[in-house]
Amino acid sequence: MFKSPKRHHLASPVPSRRPALPAVILDSARYISLAGFPKSCWGKPLKNKLRDILNIEIPIISAPMGGATGPTMAAAVSEAGGFGTIPLWGGSTEQVRKGIQQVRALTDRNFAVNLNMDFPHEEKLQACIEEELFAVSLFWGVKPGIIESAKKGGLVVLSTVGNAREAKLAADAGADIIVAQGWEAGGHVWGQVATMALVPAVVDTVSVPVVAAGGIADGRGMAAALMLGASGVWVGTRFLASNEANIHPDYRQLIQEASEDHTGWYQELYDGFWPDAPHRSLENSTSERWRAAESPRSGSRPDEDAVVGHKPDGEAVMRYQSYTPQTGTTGDIAAMSLWCGQGVAQVQETMAAAEIVEEIYRDARRILQAGSDVLDEA
Ligand SMILES: Cc1cc2nc3c(=O)[nH]c(=O)nc-3n(C[C@H](O)[C@H](O)[C@H](O)COP(=O)(O)O)c2cc1C
Repeated sequence: MFKSPKRHHLASPVPSRRPALPAVILDSARYISLAGFPKSCWGKPLKNKLRDILNIEIPIISAPMGGATGPTMAAAVSEAGGFGTIPLWGGSTEQVRKGIQQVRALTDRNFAVNLNMDFPHEEKLQACIEEELFAVSLFWGVKPGIIESAKKGGLVVLSTVGNAREAKLAADAGADIIVAQGWEAGGHVWGQVATMALVPAVVDTVSVPVVAAGGIADGRGMAAALMLGASGVWVGTRFLASNEANIHPDYRQLIQEASEDHTGWYQELYDGFWPDAPHRSLENSTSERWRAAESPRSGSRPDEDAVVGHKPDGEAVMRYQSYTPQTGTTGDIAAMSLWCGQGVAQVQETMAAAEIVEEIYRDARRILQAGSDVLDEA
């Protein structure tokens, strides 16, 4: 049985069951609140602060990662004072309800369910509303009508965008938070603009908090994103190397060994299951053979019909399939779609998700404190 749903909306009190966070983290929270610019992005007042909207202490959001992040990850990050998300777009509406209940069984803190606008989503959104969920994260395009329905249903809405024009569309429709996903990001990548250029452009366009995504894997990345005017960060690849990520050990190992130039952005390499959806993944035997064959279009690629392995339930995984190799997958794991962002060089060891949240936050604080020294020493 799951705990009764609690919705912690704006200005709601901190739930009493929350364990106290370590003093250093609370200090960091105060520090960044005073000096880290979430309140106003370089002089432009925000209507609300990210931490107030989400009722969190630490403005770090674990990115939804289909196939890799489940209830344990979402709960661990929210329990650590950040904000967890769970992608629930790939299954049935019943699985959406079940997923929400699974997270609630682990935490009474807030989290978001991630829905994909390229797949059926209206019934799933309705289920989120009926379950009295706190927040939804919507990605793969901005659909103003869906944002409006989510708001009418009482949800906090996070909308992922790839440029400032889309950010305005989402904010005008009522989105509470804009997630600016840069081209460096791992997994499916909606836009074409790098995080460094995207974040300030979006911050200059909307008056709701902006969260930076793509290539942010440590405290340096977080500090830089805040300096660009972001109110928080949305971290994916770094959390793949966490105890809570449900990925195959070979995939995790390859991530920990990879360098920053070891990923590729592809228009349609892994298009089985989800066509017309550009993505970033590690270079591997599949991408190398495809390049060696002069990058042919889908349908005439080498080994097009080859089965490279099997999912834990025994279903075949095809060479060009969009599939996150999970624990229990068998076969040639290294040949599969190993989603990964360009921040991968900063991902070297596996840690608990809570430790990742704490480390990124502490380092960001240290770097922001040293800010003027950095300028002097440049
Ligand atoms: C394995 C993997 C799966 C992903 N699946 C999703 C998803 O289901 N929904 C979504 O909105 N974004 C998804 N993304 C994108 C992330 O939410 C996020 O934007 C990205 O990881 C940020 O860049 P970073 O990996 O450099 O931190 C995925 C990313 C990865 C690496």
